[in-house]
Amino acid sequence: MDQHLPLPAGFLMGAATAPHQVEGDNVHSDWWQWETAPDSEMPQPSGTACDSYHRWPEDMDLLARAGYNAYRFGIEWARIEPEEGRIDAAEVQHYRDMVEGAVQRGLTPVVTLHHFTNPAWFSSGGGWTRPDAVAHFSAYVRRVLPVLGDEVRTVVTINEPNMAAIFGRAHGGERPEPMGEGLLPAPDSTIAQRLIEAHRAASDILHGELPAVRVGWSVASQDVQGSGDGVGPALAYSQAVEDQFLFPAAEDDFIAVQSYTRTVFGPDGNVTPAPTGIVTDTNWEFWPSAVGEVIRHTHELLPHLPILVSENGIATRDDARRIDYLRGALPAVAQAMRDGIEVLGYLHWSLLDNYEWGSWDPHFGLIGVDRESGRFERTPKPSFDWLAGWARRGALPLGS
Ligand code: BGC
Repeated sequence: MDQHLPLPAGFLMGAATAPHQVEGDNVHSDWWQWETAPDSEMPQPSGTACDSYHRWPEDMDLLARAGYNAYRFGIEWARIEPEEGRIDAAEVQHYRDMVEGAVQRGLTPVVTLHHFTNPAWFSSGGGWTRPDAVAHFSAYVRRVLPVLGDEVRTVVTINEPNMAAIFGRAHGGERPEPMGEGLLPAPDSTIAQRLIEAHRAASDILHGELPAVRVGWSVASQDVQGSGDGVGPALAYSQAVEDQFLFPAAEDDFIAVQSYTRTVFGPDGNVTPAPTGIVTDTNWEFWPSAVGEVIRHTHELLPHLPILVSENGIATRDDARRIDYLRGALPAVAQAMRDGIEVLGYLHWSLLDNYEWGSWDPHFGLIGVDRESGRFERTPKPSFDWLAGWARRGALPLGS
């Protein structure tokens, strides 16, 4: 009954966050401007978020005490460079303190350099469409090298470049059209190219200055399935929204995948509605095994690269559903590993009930946050302890 896969030494078991979603008061970022504009279409602003800018020691304490060994968090460019060319040394020190804080607690820091948000000045000048975008990003990367130091060995340069290329112009007033009902819009090719160049530039800087670091980026990866006449459209869709962002990772040290659900092209080539009929609070199909399929698909395209699961999770207020989801997802990861695929770690999305890009409604967290009282008290949910049990055991379940 108790079948499990012992984890290799160094396997990362933890959770992930992104600066804008948890820190609060990210006032120099483009997202802050969009959220607080008088005509903003976003239902809710991020505000003080989870106040993790001040409470990160508590967040890390919770992870470490529960038995996790890794924490993925990000550096916020808009704090480091609030105005073009002006570097805020206190913010550089802030993130350096976080890195040291993680290491002191026995948590391996996995650091993201860019997670959707840009400094407002960068976006108002055209964002990733501006010709000097790569030069600006490179300059920022150089300024955060002291944050990483010798301690940070795993860096995600850009989070979900495919989503950034899909929605990159959305807030400039351009509305990308979905490729079909239930599908994402196609990524913008100019932004996609810029992001690939920015990733390569960042990677060169990091490898040049910090020889021990391993560098990769994280692609939003859906389990895209097709049957009958749906096979062709499924392949084309996968190529457009994901694979074109996987190939540029071929020279990297790892590739990170972020998986939540699946997209199914039916026998008539149409996109089928969720066959199980169960959807999560983000209206995505409940499909925990997606992460395993995503690992296999990524491995097929990049067989020489180790894979990091840098996000995987479910939006639900029913924490028992989260545990159900984990009972499906973890064996899917373990089976892929047992089949010989090198997986570096599993980082759950998310550590906290955080700001979901315009809304506080979806609850992705292993830990609840009492925002209403203004005290931001953290309450670990049963799923937090359930997953920590596997971290402490140094194993993943092979069956649910
Ligand atoms: C992003 C996160 C987001 C999560 C759930 C990923 O696309 O990296 O920022 O909160 O999915 O939507």
